[in-house]
Amino acid sequence: MNNFFDDTDLEFKVSDQSIETEAGSLEYDVENACLFVNSINVYRRRRGIGTQIVQRLEKLATEKKISVIAVPVSPTYEAVSFWYAMNYNPSARTDKYWFNKLIRSGCDRVETPQGVIVFDKKLKKRKATECSVITK
Ligand SMILES: CC(C)(COP(=O)(O)OP(=O)(O)OC[C@H]1O[C@@H](n2cnc3c(N)ncnc32)[C@H](O)[C@@H]1OP(=O)(O)O)[C@@H](O)C(=O)NCCC(=O)NCCS
Repeated sequence: MNNFFDDTDLEFKVSDQSIETEAGSLEYDVENACLFVNSINVYRRRRGIGTQIVQRLEKLATEKKISVIAVPVSPTYEAVSFWYAMNYNPSARTDKYWFNKLIRSGCDRVETPQGVIVFDKKLKKRKATECSVITK
């Protein structure tokens, strides 16, 4: 078996609920014009693999005419730094609060009431009624 992964040339297996590669995977759901990321996991970190998976997801979302991608992010420094680097922002005021608290604390994680910090990215303008990300 060949265990060597060429991180720059990933092959994606895309289904209705997941994007898989030999180096990591992402699970998602679509509801109306919203795409919710349930999880992302990369086996070898800081090699741009997560970036490639998210780029593939956004291509898929554009094809599906999705207006918003929402991500309930684990409140860890690693996870929020990644999604922030992908140009996702904390959704609601409380999410911004916990994001700032985590970044300023210098800790690896914070405990939030919801257990996550919700991030989102708007892909294109749509009527507000078509999709709204509800957080506290
Ligand atoms: C979060 C995760 C998916 C990132 O995947 P990755 O392939 O390592 O990410 P990339 O290499 O594409 O990183 C892109 C950018 O994100 C940011 N980033 C990623 N990991 C980071 C970390 N540990 N600390 C700070 N910034 C980080 C950086 O800006 C990075 O760019 P750079 O390497 O040029 O500085 C991966 O670390 C992982 O699987 N973590 C465990 C599961 C998890 O936390 N999932 C998210 C839950 S929502």
